[in-house]
Amino acid sequence: VGVAACQLSRALGLKVLGTAGTPEGLKLVLNNGAHLAFNHREEGYTDKIMEATEGRGIDVIVEMLSNVNLSKDLQMLALGGRVTIIGCRGSIEIDPRDTMAKESSIMGVTLSFATSEENKECAALFYAGMEAGWLRPVVGSQYPLTKAAQAHHDIIECPGAAGKTVLVVG
Ligand SMILES: NC(=O)c1ccc[n+]([C@@H]2O[C@H](COP(=O)([O-])OP(=O)(O)OC[C@H]3O[C@@H](n4cnc5c(N)ncnc54)[C@H](OP(=O)(O)O)[C@@H]3O)[C@@H](O)[C@H]2O)c1
Repeated sequence: VGVAACQLSRALGLKVLGTAGTPEGLKLVLNNGAHLAFNHREEGYTDKIMEATEGRGIDVIVEMLSNVNLSKDLQMLALGGRVTIIGCRGSIEIDPRDTMAKESSIMGVTLSFATSEENKECAALFYAGMEAGWLRPVVGSQYPLTKAAQAHHDIIECPGAAGKTVLVVG
């Protein structure tokens, strides 16, 4: 999701700041459109992100691990900024005052609620992006269809994939 978000945001002309937890992940983020990449396992990385915005803050955060980051996100937002909740693996305590201080919003996003019209619109954009070359799907692990159960197991156990997991038929 993060790789696609970096490619799409860059194509839309945004300044893109990405994060990853390993040197390979940081390279992946930079190779997929981010102007800058930060290590979310490093102490004080949010200070570096704020410095990169010259203290102004972030307009839109695409959040993959809300139960760890949401409180920090609210403090990193620019005035009127928003956090979109994509991934969450538990609960977290936040101070609602942080949203007042920035007039910010928290918005949940769930792909499975997309209507067929929205899915068609997304597909049209993706095909156009792939034809024009600004959208380049990154393929990570590949499994034959007969190993689908193993693929599910590996996704659950793996700390973070580097690209899409693909099932190959035939
Ligand atoms: N809302 C929806 O409709 C929707 C749709 C698809 C997926 N999801 C959810 O979105 C999340 C991402 O999906 P995915 O397929 O992209 O999974 P993924 O390939 O496993 O990616 C998860 C990413 O989270 C990063 N991460 C780990 N610790 C982090 C931290 N402290 N702060 C910020 N990022 C951190 C990992 O980076 P490193 O490995 O480099 O640390 C990794 O790149 C999952 O929770 C998934 O269930 C939601």
